Amino acid sequence: MMLRTLHKLTAVLAAAGAAQAYKLLAPEELQHLLSEEYSTAARQNFDPKNTTGLLAPILRVRLPGTKESAEVRAHFRDFFTQSPTLAHGSDGSSGWQVEEDSFYDITPVPPVPGGDLNVSFTNLAAVRDPPDTRPGDVGRLTLVAHYDSKREPAGFIGATDSAFPCALILQVLANLDAALTRKWQSGADDGKHTRGLQVLLLDGEEALKDWTATDSIYGARHMARTWDEQTGDYGVTTQRKSRLDAIDLFLLLDLLGTPAPNIPSYYKHTDWAHVHLGRLQRLIRGENTAAKTKDARDDEKKDSNGKEKGVDKAEEGWFARPGKFLMGGRIGDDHLPFHNFGVPILHLIPMPFPHVWHTIDDDSDHLDMPTMVEWAQIMTVFVAEYMELSGYLV
Ligand SMILES: *[C@@H]1O[C@H](CO)[C@@H](O)[C@H](O)[C@H]1NC(C)=O
Ligand SMILES: *[C@@H]1O[C@H](CO)[C@@H](O)[C@H](O)[C@H]1NC(C)=O
Ligand SMILES: [Zn+2]
Repeated sequence: MMLRTLHKLTAVLAAAGAAQAYKLLAPEELQHLLSEEYSTAARQNFDPKNTTGLLAPILRVRLPGTKESAEVRAHFRDFFTQSPTLAHGSDGSSGWQVEEDSFYDITPVPPVPGGDLNVSFTNLAAVRDPPDTRPGDVGRLTLVAHYDSKREPAGFIGATDSAFPCALILQVLANLDAALTRKWQSGADDGKHTRGLQVLLLDGEEALKDWTATDSIYGARHMARTWDEQTGDYGVTTQRKSRLDAIDLFLLLDLLGTPAPNIPSYYKHTDWAHVHLGRLQRLIRGENTAAKTKDARDDEKKDSNGKEKGVDKAEEGWFARPGKFLMGGRIGDDHLPFHNFGVPILHLIPMPFPHVWHTIDDDSDHLDMPTMVEWAQIMTVFVAEYMELSGYLV
């Protein structure tokens, strides 16, 4: 009884804290983020044929411990250390800090024929904290996707699983990093609550053989355990007690890029964010439609034969509210070890899974460009509001 009351009270406080620290954008700021400049950048970066874009270098087999996997990681690292769209310490902060978390684990079959069962896995973490802060005083919005591909079927490149989610995270950073710099340079956050941004690109999400507790989410299991024990910069005098405790929201993106996904709300704790994403999508779709001329809209309603299309299912929105929480965390994915440690989870994964799931057809031909651009718009606005960037975007 006592325990239960306490638990409820904590949940309410946590929800209130989250809502309080979320600042809506002004209409002109929303319009700015939806402008042609941003959608063109997204289209170029998500073009599967653009080798200097963000997505194409990930669209390949990338099994744990292989040279190909290391090359994909180098692509991520180059983005954080060299991309002209990111600040490199220009605001007096140390800019993006990139770390690799490498470890060995035993797998039931080798990732490549003739390979070792003792496999090297590597997670990549990138952090940007406000200037002049102690790590233990910063709560981080943490954007997460896995970058390994599945061993079978041979040649599987997992365009939705999770090449596109990785590229999407990078695109959101490219869109917002300058605003973060402006905000932190202005001193607006000095002495207030401090919120940092963090990216986790995890290895070994896929089972090598069959999905079991020990043959899956190798990287996430290692990272959660390591960060729970990482208490050096944290302690009794700081608000957060460990690296794990410094994750304010674990936002996991998986199986995205095909048209009209249905994204349920999986956890009561982060349901506020699901509600808000639905609202954002309606707002964004309204703005996008308003931005087009009436002629263009009339053309769009007709199919290639000039006939009127029926109501597009996609127009119903991706964040349906069936009035219940789906599966309550029973989907096997990278969030589980973090959830077990009590980290708040926002799991953006469609249910049902895309029809190409775990087949050789999960390739670039089955990614839908308008859907990918809309994901970039939704996630850019969500992260901008979560990081309270209103006033620093334009
Ligand atoms: C490829 O992407 C880069 C980075 O966004 C962009 O500068 C370039 O124009 C793109 N190339 C093409 C052919 O779209
Ligand atoms: C796996 O390989 C690493 C590096 O060679 C080694 O340090 C570790 O002991 C090996 N683990 C097992 C269980 O053999
Ligand atoms: Zn998968």
